[in-house]
Amino acid sequence: MLRWRNLPEVRRWMYTDHEITEKEHDQWFESVLRDESRQYWVIMLDEQPVGVIGLNQGDSESAADERSFGVYIGESSARGSGAATSALTQVFAFAFSDPSVHRVSAEVLSANEAAIRAYARAGMVRSERPAQRTDAIVMLIDRATWTTKTSASLEAKV
Ligand SMILES: CC(C)(COP(=O)(O)OP(=O)(O)OC[C@H]1O[C@@H](n2cnc3c(N)ncnc32)[C@H](O)[C@@H]1OP(=O)(O)O)[C@@H](O)C(=O)NCCC(=O)NCCS
Repeated sequence: MLRWRNLPEVRRWMYTDHEITEKEHDQWFESVLRDESRQYWVIMLDEQPVGVIGLNQGDSESAADERSFGVYIGESSARGSGAATSALTQVFAFAFSDPSVHRVSAEVLSANEAAIRAYARAGMVRSERPAQRTDAIVMLIDRATWTTKTSASLEAKV
């Protein structure tokens, strides 16, 4: 996980973009294990671990009804495979299974075309809300959009 997170092509898109030390990683890992408000999953493709997705309490201060996520595909051969979009769909299902959650958001650097396309493919839209950084945007999916999208795909399968 640390190797993936420190890859230049991954960390260049993160707000924390320095090379993370093993000590820092261990401290972060311990804190995640203790924190019930954060969940992390390993993304699998053909039974191989290829990336990580994490869900947190939302970034916006007032939003108890919001969750935010971070994602990366560490194995370069798995990028562009749809693995991220598929993981996002499952994480949205998890987030919205809590009736108090009304939105899932992500902040993404404006130049990160792959992330913006993957997020849009999973049903997210750009929000007018300002991001923490001026070179980033906020993308959102709300419960109503999620419900419509899910029922449309269920209908398509019947
Ligand atoms: C963002 C990321 C998770 C997306 O994963 P992925 O496996 O490529 O995602 P998907 O295959 O589900 O979809 C990617 C979409 O971006 C497109 N894409 C992939 N690489 C691209 C690139 N360099 N430039 C533009 N578009 C790109 C794909 O064609 C696809 O679009 P489409 O559905 O219109 O064909 C992955 O690229 C990654 O880990 N990047 C580094 C870390 C990162 O940026 N994390 C997000 C921080 S907000």
